[in-house]
Amino acid sequence: METMLELHDLKKHFKRPDGTIVEAVKGIDLQVHKGEIFSLLGPNGAGKTTTISMISGLLEPTAGDAIIGGYSIRQNPIQAKALMGVVPQEIALYPTLTARQNLEFFGRMYGLSGRELAKQVDWVLDFIDLRDRQKDKINTFSGGMKRRVNIGIGLLHRPQLVYMDEPTVGIDPQSRRRILDTVLQLRDELGMTVLYTTHLMEEAEELSDRVGIIDHGQIIAMGTQGELTLMVGEEDRLLCKVASADLPEAVIERIKHDVDGVTAVDFEQRDGHRASADVEPTETGTVRAARPEGVITIHAKRGRKALPRVLEILIGQGIEVQSVEIREPDLEAVFLHLTGRELRD
Ligand SMILES: Nc1ncnc2c1ncn2[C@@H]1O[C@H](COP(=O)(O)OP(=O)(O)OP(=O)(O)O)[C@@H](O)[C@H]1O
Ligand SMILES: [Mg+2]
Repeated sequence: METMLELHDLKKHFKRPDGTIVEAVKGIDLQVHKGEIFSLLGPNGAGKTTTISMISGLLEPTAGDAIIGGYSIRQNPIQAKALMGVVPQEIALYPTLTARQNLEFFGRMYGLSGRELAKQVDWVLDFIDLRDRQKDKINTFSGGMKRRVNIGIGLLHRPQLVYMDEPTVGIDPQSRRRILDTVLQLRDELGMTVLYTTHLMEEAEELSDRVGIIDHGQIIAMGTQGELTLMVGEEDRLLCKVASADLPEAVIERIKHDVDGVTAVDFEQRDGHRASADVEPTETGTVRAARPEGVITIHAKRGRKALPRVLEILIGQGIEVQSVEIREPDLEAVFLHLTGRELRD
């Protein structure tokens, strides 16, 4: 497999005003293959943007190097940069210029001019599906449309490698869908290689050929989704929300022994509140009375198969089951397994 991008022990340390050092990126090694979508998945502050900034030449690495199509970003920055397009996390557009004027401006910065520039701007406007809005000013665009122009700028010189730093943040689900489709098109129709960053497991799962999980400036796991989820085993988790403050040991034992494939049963009490319809008015207004609530987590080889028997046991014991969820091993579970924390804020 041909390599498009290689990171060698890439590091970035920032100095805070008080003199303390922030190790934002602590030494990343990875290879992105030509023609793949590689996602860096990690929570806020993990070091995603710092990494993208170093490999796009905006920030000088403290140590290490990035090799793009054979060119070192430190030794051959001009050749390296010619191969890459960057879609930054923050939208960088001129609000009082039209979409077309923005694209023309950035196209000139990439060294395009004349007929070549006009041709590429037309192509991008079609690709991001904004040709009919090209003469409108950016400050009349929706958030999703601005995001699309922001993406278009990164594609103007038809790069082989595109960095996209959380390109769906802050937009509605429909615009998000459109952007995810665009990312897939970059790979499938244009043959580009994409390095995509996100803190959303669903996006990484849908888009990526391979994923690197990044946390506190380090890659803590890397591979295909299948390889990564194997780290947490093949068990499903059944989450049963119940209206009880505790779960008798006898019930736990029954689930463990009478249901096929169950390996563990946990119970966690939650602070429940009455649904608003149940709230009783008092002289001082309405109060939200707490009522018992808990979540039973059942680890089982095949969650779907275990579910009917589990419900039968719970209901037979007079336990009120409010909802049931089956969680198959996913990247969220991998993150939890590796860090003990949730990926979401
Ligand atoms: N210029 C800077 N000076 C000092 N610290 C910085 C600077 N830039 C980033 N950091 C710190 O480096 C760490 C990584 O930040 P970075 O922006 O790379 O994270 P991120 O993964 O992109 O997060 P997000 O999902 O919120 O965009 C954070 O702790 C951040 O506060
Ligand atoms: Mg960021």
